[in-house]
Amino acid sequence: MLKSLSLGIPLDPLPEHPVFDKSVPHAPGRPQILTVDEKKLAIKNALRYFPENLHEILGKEFLNELNTYGHIYMYRFRPVHYEMKAYAISEYPAKCQQAAAIMLMIMNNLDKEVAQFPHELVTYGGNGSVFQNWAQYHLVMKYLSEMTEEQTLSIYSGHPMGLYPSTVNSPRVIVTNGMVIPNYSSRMDYERMYAQGVSQYGQMTAGSYCYIGPQGIVHGTTITLLNAGRKYLNIGDLRGRVFVTSGLGGMSGAQAKASVICGAIGIIAEINEAAVEKRYNQGWVLEKFRDIPALFTRVKKAIADKEALSIAYIGNVVDLWEELAKSDLHVDLGSDQTSLHNPFNGGYYPSGLTYEQSNQMMVQDPNKFHELVQDSLRRQTSAINTMVQRGMRFWDYGNSFLLEASRAGADINVEGSRTEFKYPSYVQDIMGDIFSLGFGPFRWVCTSGTAKDLAVTDRIAKEVIESLKSEKEIDIDVEQQYDDNHLWITQANAHNLVVGSQARILYSDCIGRMQIACAFNNAVKSGEISAPVVISRDHHDVSGTDAPWRETSNVKDGSHFCADMAVHNFVGDSFRGATWVSIHNGGGTGWGEAINGGFGMVLDGKDSTEEKAKTMLSWDVNNGVSRRSWSYNNNAEKTIKRAMKLDPNLKVTVPNHASTDLINKLFQ
Ligand SMILES: NC(=O)c1ccc[n+]([C@@H]2O[C@H](COP(=O)([O-])OP(=O)(O)OC[C@H]3O[C@@H](n4cnc5c(N)ncnc54)[C@H](O)[C@@H]3O)[C@@H](O)[C@H]2O)c1
Repeated sequence: MLKSLSLGIPLDPLPEHPVFDKSVPHAPGRPQILTVDEKKLAIKNALRYFPENLHEILGKEFLNELNTYGHIYMYRFRPVHYEMKAYAISEYPAKCQQAAAIMLMIMNNLDKEVAQFPHELVTYGGNGSVFQNWAQYHLVMKYLSEMTEEQTLSIYSGHPMGLYPSTVNSPRVIVTNGMVIPNYSSRMDYERMYAQGVSQYGQMTAGSYCYIGPQGIVHGTTITLLNAGRKYLNIGDLRGRVFVTSGLGGMSGAQAKASVICGAIGIIAEINEAAVEKRYNQGWVLEKFRDIPALFTRVKKAIADKEALSIAYIGNVVDLWEELAKSDLHVDLGSDQTSLHNPFNGGYYPSGLTYEQSNQMMVQDPNKFHELVQDSLRRQTSAINTMVQRGMRFWDYGNSFLLEASRAGADINVEGSRTEFKYPSYVQDIMGDIFSLGFGPFRWVCTSGTAKDLAVTDRIAKEVIESLKSEKEIDIDVEQQYDDNHLWITQANAHNLVVGSQARILYSDCIGRMQIACAFNNAVKSGEISAPVVISRDHHDVSGTDAPWRETSNVKDGSHFCADMAVHNFVGDSFRGATWVSIHNGGGTGWGEAINGGFGMVLDGKDSTEEKAKTMLSWDVNNGVSRRSWSYNNNAEKTIKRAMKLDPNLKVTVPNHASTDLINKLFQ
């Protein structure tokens, strides 16, 4: 059935145009920003994938798509004769196992159970694209099916430039997304280049083919909530505590499930009823309300009963915050997970309009829509400020809330500063220290597609943590992380979180990642695991991402607008044995606001693979720990010194610490 993957773009016969399938969610229309000449170029660019005899028929069709959706997706070429999902690796028509594994990962990112807008090739975050159009998908699959272990595929923002000779130790695929000249990296530049079919926003794991559905983020959100409780409320138990936030979308949907796992009461506002229904049917949202007074009554009862609960408020988060500010309901923790990295094109819905009205206005009257978004952000901030004065702790959830609220003129900046905010970013305040210890979202996919293999990997990972925990002289902060992660991996299967490929996430530090990877490789070699395992990570990690409003917001030496770490990471992973590497403009905080990179590595049981896994993972973690240590983070300095003791080949420059008094005296 998957043989057709090796055939490339289907042209003879030209496939029937599949009907616009209303059974899956679709991306909102994009703004019409191209001039007539730019539109002509967009059509010309799209037609270069096809022979000339098809240009007349396809040219009309593509112009229609451009005028209707603001982008040419090439819907006619969306495959309909096989189901889009991750199949067992053995089913792929490929000449090398590494290529087959990448095909599996790509199809998982486009599975309708996994992807946010599968037919627009968007995996998550509203605009996180795998490819710009379906022609690119078919061509990439064809190249992968032909590829040998002496070739590398270069992919420019979804477009496969071609297969180039390389060596068995080279990465099989190099992906770049949205790499543009820095002065041309505004949001409008992105809109224009995406509409013209020359660049795309890959988010993070979307354009890197390693999204594993909401599970990845449930683990991260659970850890965030537990740490927020410890840090802000001084408690290790969130029972009877209220957490208010927004978003039940791709990643934000995890907030409901994580609230219940932590024992808290999560109230999550969501404007899109379809998103509420999805999470409700999945069992992640336990109750749903439209009526705010009834919702408040229910929450008060849950507080009294210390009941673990997740409630969706079907409506606008601005209205919810304003009603909370007027009420006597105490909220302990607050955040926001609307997609503010993409505020004017479907990421944030202003109060006073229905979901449908907003979707129309953002295309038909973008200026008015812009104004309404900014007005809502000012109102939302003002209500949040009131709640904070009453004792709530609020943080930015890596979605650019603080940045966009500040740009809207909301009362959110520290007095007299344009770049400092009243509230912390969760990375800076809650997660930052975890990253500095080297912990991050390590993950794996069992390419056999069997739950049996996944259970073996869970067991192996649990045993590795137990052995690490039993070591003498273990740091108390590290031990706390091992305990949280041990609990997670012990319960992971019971939480029933697998959607799409048989995958697992487990926050791990450098030594944990290396030992787990080696143990998996051995188990593949011995046959205990029946097929290769792909290891990867979310880019939201210690080394992979330079993002001044998120991953590197706690970097204090003035280098938080520098992106050397992410670029070095991408290059360093590529020659140390990654099977594929990627680097992107943007990420969770938006185009132009970050540089992030990732990797995938196929553990195929070979001895040479074990060596690659060790050296690549050591670099993939210690690069970021070194940079964080150099920028005065004590945890990172402690961690890199420990790593140097373990590996004599690791020699890192550590900072000398100048006394603030001495420096101040120089200015007296
Ligand atoms: N979960 C995490 O750990 C994490 C980490 C980093 C960044 N983020 C960021 O969080 C944001 C959300 O990610 P996602 O994948 O869930 O995006 P998404 O677009 O799938 O979901 C956002 C949801 O917010 C809803 N929404 C928008 N405006 C609203 C409003 N005013 N009131 C109520 N609901 C509203 C939308 O309908 C949508 O369902 C992104 O910016 C992402 O980069 C999340």
